[in-house]
Amino acid sequence: MGVSVRDPNTLSNYAAWLTKHTTANLTIDFDEHALKGRVDYRILSRTQKESNEIILDSSFVSVKSVSVGGSPAQWELKERHKAFGSPLHISVPEGAAEGDELDLSIELQTTKECTALQWLTPAQTSNKKHPYMFSQCQAIHARSLFPCQDTPDVKSTYTFNITSPLPVVASGVLESETIGENGTTYVFEQKVPIPSYLFALASGDIATAKIGSRSKIATGPEELEGAKWELEQDMDKFMEVAEKVVFPYKWGEYNVLVLPPSFPYGGMENPVYTFATPTIISGDRQNIDVIAHELAHSWSGNLVTSCSWEHFWLNEGWTVYLERRIGAAIHGEPERDFSAIIGWKALEDSITHFGADHEYTKLIPTLKGVDPDDAFSTVPYEKGFHFLYYLEKLVGRDNFDKFIPHYFTKFSGKSLDSFEFKETFISFFDSLGDEEIKKKVAEIDWEGRFYNPGLPPKPDFDTSYVDQCYSLAEKWKDSSYSPSKSDVESFSANQKLVFLESIQKFDPPISSERAKLLGDAYDLLSSQNVELKAAYYHIAMGAKDTSSYEGVSDLLGRVGRMKFVRPLFRGLNKVDRELALKTFEKNKDFYHPICRGMVEKDLGLE
Ligand code: BES
Ligand code: ZN
Repeated sequence: MGVSVRDPNTLSNYAAWLTKHTTANLTIDFDEHALKGRVDYRILSRTQKESNEIILDSSFVSVKSVSVGGSPAQWELKERHKAFGSPLHISVPEGAAEGDELDLSIELQTTKECTALQWLTPAQTSNKKHPYMFSQCQAIHARSLFPCQDTPDVKSTYTFNITSPLPVVASGVLESETIGENGTTYVFEQKVPIPSYLFALASGDIATAKIGSRSKIATGPEELEGAKWELEQDMDKFMEVAEKVVFPYKWGEYNVLVLPPSFPYGGMENPVYTFATPTIISGDRQNIDVIAHELAHSWSGNLVTSCSWEHFWLNEGWTVYLERRIGAAIHGEPERDFSAIIGWKALEDSITHFGADHEYTKLIPTLKGVDPDDAFSTVPYEKGFHFLYYLEKLVGRDNFDKFIPHYFTKFSGKSLDSFEFKETFISFFDSLGDEEIKKKVAEIDWEGRFYNPGLPPKPDFDTSYVDQCYSLAEKWKDSSYSPSKSDVESFSANQKLVFLESIQKFDPPISSERAKLLGDAYDLLSSQNVELKAAYYHIAMGAKDTSSYEGVSDLLGRVGRMKFVRPLFRGLNKVDRELALKTFEKNKDFYHPICRGMVEKDLGLE
């Protein structure tokens, strides 16, 4: 078959073996903070070479026993690689011929070092009644749950047999619930093959309500009404638009689980159940673009998947592109450029942060030996979006709209790299038979677009929604400007954000008195919207308004979303390191292990 390993972030020998089906039989033990049980794998031999050994990724998993074809097998956990974990070598002495399938079973349990799971005590939950647990596997944390081919280049179907005393949510469709001695066993099926990073579980005091024809919201019973209100108006609309742009939704249900505040991301596109931060439930329906984004992953990422984290832009760039198409269809075309302008600013910030020559500012960075979490930034999102936006403008919207379903159909159920994307794009427009477009496509600088570090060429944006934000910021340049509430009355939350980001850029920064005035005049501290609050705190810290530092510290004890936590810690660390360290010490158990690890790095505590 000639399969090559194109993912540098796995230690598995997936060129030789392919996981076809995975059955996770796991009990959630809230007392010991562990998943315990057995994982069964159906594995296909892809080649004669190397085939007397199966190597799986694993990280901090306690392996009890391994069997192959029903008989005990020899196995060994090799020395730990700092970023990639300890590969599990399993011997298959008699080997397997190409095309043979064998059954592998591993008895195991997770350990305290598991990076994918967060366990909350009842006291750490909002109603303080029950414990809670949830997983976050992207990018390479699935290997800390159970040994697996932890690469987006391998896709398996899944059966989840999960036993818990509390309701369970997983990235599959619920088939049955059976009450037993140790709790209820929930069976979920995922019949669409998925990569390991989309394996997901959560369990706790979870209630559900309907928010659309194919959609439910799940969250704590006390939070249910608010969460339902936030999404019920738009859920079906999002799905209709996405289905029109690409093709019908393939996963049965699209549900959203709103997690406790320590969830480290805005959202995670776990199939069937998107996991989301509670910061999107802001009471104003202004932060649900995160849901449009995660829904869009149902096509870009979950059906059509980048084969390694080096080609991550194929997941995130396409998803941002589709998310903005959804936004434009619902709120009008200028909304797309408005969102793109916000994204451009985030891209500039990332590139300034890394340095314009940095490897991680390339559309396709080299991640050999690198923990993908360390390379994570807005670059693949925004540089990826801008590449697609450029291609759309080049061939024209109507033509690009024909390419979208072609591409997603061709790679549905598969993983691909950027070179296959390029080849598909070129041959699609070759066969369209329009000579003028063919000529334009032939002139695309693929090398430059793929490998030039720093900012891509800046497009002309439709600035109609941002102009008001910039002109208000312009007024603030005059230090005698006296603000009033009405300045921002007509602004959307995102327009306020653009305004605040312009103020953040003032050089010299505004004075601490002016910063306080701004916060008061526009009610920024009483806002439920963490996005606005955090943006304001960056202004206050930049202005050395010492009276704001306690507020920053307090917010850092209430949200665990890395998008806010990491920059706020970096900001606080600059102006008051002692308070930053004290705040981290106080809250480190509140943060998810991934977030805790990243903040430790950011604060130089490693
Ligand atoms: N898949 C990502 C989250 C992610 C990326 C987790 C890499 C782990 C490693 C998700 O779809 C995402 O991009 N979330 C964003 C939402 C935003 C772009 C609307 C987030 O969390 O902020
Ligand atoms: Zn995403």
